[in-house]
Amino acid sequence: PYPLYAELRRTPVVRDESGPYLVSTYWEIHSLLHDPRVSSDIRNLAPEAKTAPRIEDPDLPPSFIRLDPPDHDRLRRLIMRTYGPPRSPRRVYGLRGEISGIVSGLIDRFQGRDRIDLVDDFSYPFPVTVICRLLGVPQEDEQRFHGWADTVATAIEPPVGTPEEQQAHWRAIREAHHQLADYLSGLIEQRRRAPREDMISALATDRGADESPMSLPEMLSNLTLLLIAGHETTVNLITNGMLTLLRHPDTLKQLRADPDLVIPLVEELLRFEPPVQLLPERTTLDDIEIAGTTIPQGASLWLVPASGNRDPQRFPEPDRFIPDRPDNQHFGFGTGIHNCIGSPLARLEAQAALAELVRRLDNPRLVEDPPPYRHNAVLRGPQHLPIAFDG
Ligand code: HEM
Repeated sequence: PYPLYAELRRTPVVRDESGPYLVSTYWEIHSLLHDPRVSSDIRNLAPEAKTAPRIEDPDLPPSFIRLDPPDHDRLRRLIMRTYGPPRSPRRVYGLRGEISGIVSGLIDRFQGRDRIDLVDDFSYPFPVTVICRLLGVPQEDEQRFHGWADTVATAIEPPVGTPEEQQAHWRAIREAHHQLADYLSGLIEQRRRAPREDMISALATDRGADESPMSLPEMLSNLTLLLIAGHETTVNLITNGMLTLLRHPDTLKQLRADPDLVIPLVEELLRFEPPVQLLPERTTLDDIEIAGTTIPQGASLWLVPASGNRDPQRFPEPDRFIPDRPDNQHFGFGTGIHNCIGSPLARLEAQAALAELVRRLDNPRLVEDPPPYRHNAVLRGPQHLPIAFDG
């Protein structure tokens, strides 16, 4: 998509016939993502502007990613209090040991093989296991939880096949949503009665301090958001990361010699091959003048952060992968009030995974380049990534 983005950036704000306004340059995206006149609220979206299927459970209230202040801020604060920075990054950093244990355990299973599919054998099972530990899903329930998470996550793929098959696809997702909601309700109730040291307990026992605590439907909706927002994105970051390293053998060698390089390297990956390419479905609440164009009130906006990340007005040599690139304020985790709350966790996961994969795989090689990609305009990442190695 990157040559296409370069073409798009020649006109920072374009409109495709009667469709949404597409914004592709760094500073314009930055400005709009910090503009209170740009709404993420699903209720402001004109019905004809709804392009992506709703991946959340339609029987639950919208989660805070699809809300504006003050509703967004209240729910985000309540989650932050139980999750992470700036108040309590300890919950995430406390998972460091477990994260490396999960990484080593998955790589141990490669023993005796000379080829893996990185997606199926590593990237896919890894983040959902971490989210289970973060939330406090008991290990004996993890397999069931993975099943629902996988099914719910398929909602981001456009359905394929006959109308009957497409209907079956949506039915399966709905069913998984209901099972997930039932399961989480049970767990919340258990933890309310007997809290443990996990995030669900923190949420279930939170009285809300100076604001009203979350209702049960709000908890279900926002916990599902964490699951959806933190799953495929992390899968793709790790897979895009190995692919990029295998295409840059000198960097791979450098990383093997200096594992600390993984920290800036993951930032450069988030700029160079970001899992989230497009932020669709925002709405203007007023006329907004930007880059010489007036976007009228009520228009649908699509921002292309992956294009902003390659904007030469912001990043020198944007199409080069520079693992220790300085001043790397990329849009990999968005920016503004909806910036990713999972970024500390996602960073830890990607750093642990890439450093250990590079350390343990002997002479890893791509089997096909490019690998098969999933068909998705929002999320970019290979569907499979076969890698051969010497053992
Ligand atoms: C928001 C990317 C991992 C939870 C976002 C946004 C991006 C993003 C671009 C902004 C969305 C917008 O502006 O509408 C990523 C990437 C990840 C990742 C690339 C992994 C590599 C995670 C994880 C979690 C998470 C692990 C949770 C455990 C969220 C939530 C929001 C969000 C809750 C909404 C924040 C808000 O609306 O205030 N993420 N994310 N993400 N992310 Fe992530």
